[in-house]
Amino acid sequence: MASNSLSGDESGLRSRPIVIGEQSFPYYFGRDCITEIGAAIAALGADRLVFVTDDEVLSRYRRDIDRLAGSIPSLILSHPAGESMKTLTCLSSHLETALRAGITRRSVVVSFGGGVPGNLAGLMANLLFRGVRLVHVPTTTIAAMDSVLSLKQAINSGVGKNHLGTYYAPEAVFTDVEFFTTLPERELRSGLCEMAKNCLAIDPSALTGLREVIGNMTAPDSLLWLLDASIAAKSAVTRDDTYERGAGLVLEYGHTVGHAIEICDHRMRGAAGLPHGAAIALGMLVAAHISHARGWLSDDEMSVHYEIVTGLGVEPALPDSVRIDDVLAVVADDNKKGYLPPRPDAVPFVLLRALGRPECTGDLPLVPVAVREIRAALDVIAQPSASAPVVVG
Ligand SMILES: NC(=O)c1ccc[n+]([C@@H]2O[C@H](COP(=O)([O-])OP(=O)(O)OC[C@H]3O[C@@H](n4cnc5c(N)ncnc54)[C@H](O)[C@@H]3O)[C@@H](O)[C@H]2O)c1
Repeated sequence: MASNSLSGDESGLRSRPIVIGEQSFPYYFGRDCITEIGAAIAALGADRLVFVTDDEVLSRYRRDIDRLAGSIPSLILSHPAGESMKTLTCLSSHLETALRAGITRRSVVVSFGGGVPGNLAGLMANLLFRGVRLVHVPTTTIAAMDSVLSLKQAINSGVGKNHLGTYYAPEAVFTDVEFFTTLPERELRSGLCEMAKNCLAIDPSALTGLREVIGNMTAPDSLLWLLDASIAAKSAVTRDDTYERGAGLVLEYGHTVGHAIEICDHRMRGAAGLPHGAAIALGMLVAAHISHARGWLSDDEMSVHYEIVTGLGVEPALPDSVRIDDVLAVVADDNKKGYLPPRPDAVPFVLLRALGRPECTGDLPLVPVAVREIRAALDVIAQPSASAPVVVG
């Protein structure tokens, strides 16, 4: 999986150049490398650092944040963890606080945490003085292997997830795989679900490596391999697609229904609801069932989906708390609508013709899928025992 663009530098940090359309930035990663990350942040010459984090991360990693800040005057903006942070209210409050604290165009916004503080920080950096520098320090697998490899920065509206956003590139991304070892297992597995998505939809050759690390997830070498493989897979489709409105839309595999399940479950169960990655894993099963019903994915390819999803510890079943009608109502508001000519009772969807081969409409890896097809696939995962295929290999 590793390509020859991976390099190490004198400090021991590995680096990969990330190119997204016309934007590019370096991604530095390693193990036990907080000192090196701090030195790299200091080299940006910021007059002030604005750390954006959440309360859980802050209580666990306050010392590391202080080490990253070093002697640079810093402001720490924190909020209780979770999606309630991705709101206009929180965004507005953080922006006002930063401005009142006297930040300038030379200040740098540093996201320190998961995808939630990362998205909020990205939007803040873009809005402050029409753009100040942004650095991501992702501490979850979802953030490190997925969200920071996208320029998309979004918060939620009262209507749906990620409806209010923009595209903004960081100066650099830095992470230490030791962060991932303190993640609750369900969060760690959640990030690996996004990696599984990349394997199934983009690069099935990485499935062998993924199977190997599923059994030994917290070993530093496994985490370094996963991070590197994720960076390579995601970069491969976003390189020529700044806005993820072309080939990069394949990254939405599993997301149309996955996001909807996540939203519905969180409405019912709050923080006890499915983690993001697990919801996306269920969304992939729904997409796979639709492809299978169309005669595209084979029985074996269907089984590979189940093997990987269950291997990652996700129960391949719709939670009892989630009603199919509610999921379909949210799906109707999916943020991919508009990419294809509108059709009554159909939504744009990423479906696979085969593993690693999305079906396209023109240049877009999207096809219209009838609501009745989605309902039929949801019915299958709502009654899993009757339908789960035999797992092969
Ligand atoms: N921009 C994009 O393209 C993109 C892609 C994927 C996901 N996202 C967004 O990312 C969010 C999900 O990301 P997430 O799962 O990282 O959510 P998150 O930021 O809420 O983190 C999940 C939980 O892990 C805790 N946590 C963070 N780091 C930790 C650590 N090292 N040890 C222990 N606990 C830790 C947090 O406090 C939080 O409770 C969603 O809002 C999603 O929309 C965006």
